Amino acid sequence: MKDLAVLVSEQEIMKRCVELGNEISKAYEGKTIYVISVLTGGVFFTVELTKHIDRSIIFNFVSASSYNNSTVSSGNVNISFDLKYDIEGKDVLIIEDIIDSGRTLHTLKEIVMSQKPSSIKICTMLDKPSRREIDVNVDFVGFEIEDKFVVGYGLDNLDGTMRNLPYIGVIEQ
Ligand code: IMP
Ligand code: MG
Repeated sequence: MKDLAVLVSEQEIMKRCVELGNEISKAYEGKTIYVISVLTGGVFFTVELTKHIDRSIIFNFVSASSYNNSTVSSGNVNISFDLKYDIEGKDVLIIEDIIDSGRTLHTLKEIVMSQKPSSIKICTMLDKPSRREIDVNVDFVGFEIEDKFVVGYGLDNLDGTMRNLPYIGVIEQ
């Protein structure tokens, strides 16, 4: 395995998930949350976070990809959107691993909006604001990070490895 520096430890992620879970519970008082989790990167975070949300949750999973074997977004977003549970008139919370250019979430949000939910909020584990190309309104952010390519905790390393690392790491160049 390549040399990795820990950027966010497992303990820090778990602590932040408890905090975010409390915030999200408050924002959805008396409501059922229709989570849309973005595969594959968002799954680890979705699981840890939602354990700490004290509301009824329905899970939908969609798949998104925007990379063509490079560490920068290609700008070409592919989303496979086939919901198991209808979201029309429901309160939707999109859960993503990381926002980079903003293209994936922008595209996904447009598709979600076309299904006429009653509300849409976005929660991301990581945010790289310095890389933003399209403005996206994010409601809940785990950690803001610098412009570095990160791996672990569900995040892809382009070849599909290292998702199962329990922390977020940076590959030392
Ligand atoms: P965006 O469309 O440019 O915002 O890119 C978002 C997607 O690119 C994320 O959902 C991730 O799947 C992927 N991505 C962006 N930055 C990283 C990174 O540093 N490590 C791993 N995946 C990343
Ligand atoms: Mg993603």
